[in-house]
Amino acid sequence: MSIRTLDDLLAEGVSGRRVLVRADLNVPLDKQTGAITDDGRIRAVLPTLSALIGAGAKVTVCSHLGRPKGAPDPQFSLRSVAGRLGELLGAPVHFATDTVGDSARSTVEALGDGEVALLENLRFNAGETSKDEAERASFADQLAGFGEAYVDDAFGAVHRKHASVYDVPARLPHFAGRLVLREVEVLSTLTGEPERPYVVVLGGSKVSDKLAVIEALLPKVDRLLIGGGMCFTFLKAQGHEVGTSLLEEEMVETCRNLMERAPGKILLPVDVVAADAFSPDATHDTVRADGIPSHRLGLDIGPETVAGFAAALKGARTIFWNGPMGVFEMAPFAHGTRGVAEAIAGSGAFTVVGGGDSAAAVRALGLDESSFGHISTGGGASLEYLEGKTLPGIAALEN
Ligand code: 3PG
Ligand code: MG
Repeated sequence: MSIRTLDDLLAEGVSGRRVLVRADLNVPLDKQTGAITDDGRIRAVLPTLSALIGAGAKVTVCSHLGRPKGAPDPQFSLRSVAGRLGELLGAPVHFATDTVGDSARSTVEALGDGEVALLENLRFNAGETSKDEAERASFADQLAGFGEAYVDDAFGAVHRKHASVYDVPARLPHFAGRLVLREVEVLSTLTGEPERPYVVVLGGSKVSDKLAVIEALLPKVDRLLIGGGMCFTFLKAQGHEVGTSLLEEEMVETCRNLMERAPGKILLPVDVVAADAFSPDATHDTVRADGIPSHRLGLDIGPETVAGFAAALKGARTIFWNGPMGVFEMAPFAHGTRGVAEAIAGSGAFTVVGGGDSAAAVRALGLDESSFGHISTGGGASLEYLEGKTLPGIAALEN
């Protein structure tokens, strides 16, 4: 592996040079107001940007936000992110209202040494995510025109074979930013020889999203604790009725096989908080996992489960956690996620929190970020890394 890093670029000297930085500024926005609800991903890229600014580079940052369909869509504009980035950097961020058009060209052109521009959402251009190599290539050509060097600090997007992630580095001298390096360094300890016991906690809504990582992790881990919406498909596979809880019927058999393959390794909830509606005001009770009423849906793991999970986490030497244990955005269903997060934080293990949602949960619940070993900015990216997949954005830096 021969990845050149930001330090290599800085050693060359960047004063007055144009540097194009791919960041993952895909932050969660409030559905009503559009306000940024968690700026963790913006903060995570500051070390790389500050280093470049300090060295006098002309920095053009680009990112996606959400999943617009290849055309401008105001609800996914990066404008407010530019504002927040400027506040955090303590320097103005010049915002281009398009990706590679007139505004982008003139904004990049006008940059002085040590100044920063942010382009509008890359996914406003169909070339960014296109499966058509030629369409991606022509967009990549235009983007590459904005830099003499390319720095990838978008760890959350390295699993995407997108123009700005995969094709631009083939066109410019390319370097890994500080965030990408740190993420890879940490996650590679998990795929290597993690200290044991190695316990993984998985949550989130769908088994189908996590199946590949469960398959990859099962032989490696000592315990796999499962909560979140996906636990109900496992509970069903254990023979329990789950009421109106989230259920992937077509995955029940797969879950049964997974449990048979590793007897005793997978730990499931023994109690859940079941509500009569998906609402913070819904009537709800803690019930046994094998006694969920037919008209109710489980929205969190129960206290006995939290205690059991905490016991399994105690004494672990390595912990990876991805996915909330319940609907933590609604106060009545946040206890499971909080309890498990606190058990992880207090475990004394080397702890890695993976995923946009779990990272956001840590901050939303007001937990101390520094009590975790590493909070990844990648959701899908960290999972695919742990699956052992080749990540296009990393591969592109290696060439
Ligand atoms: C993420 O939020 O997981 C990354 O920013 C990638 O976004 P995507 O899943 O829309 O490609
Ligand atoms: Mg995602």
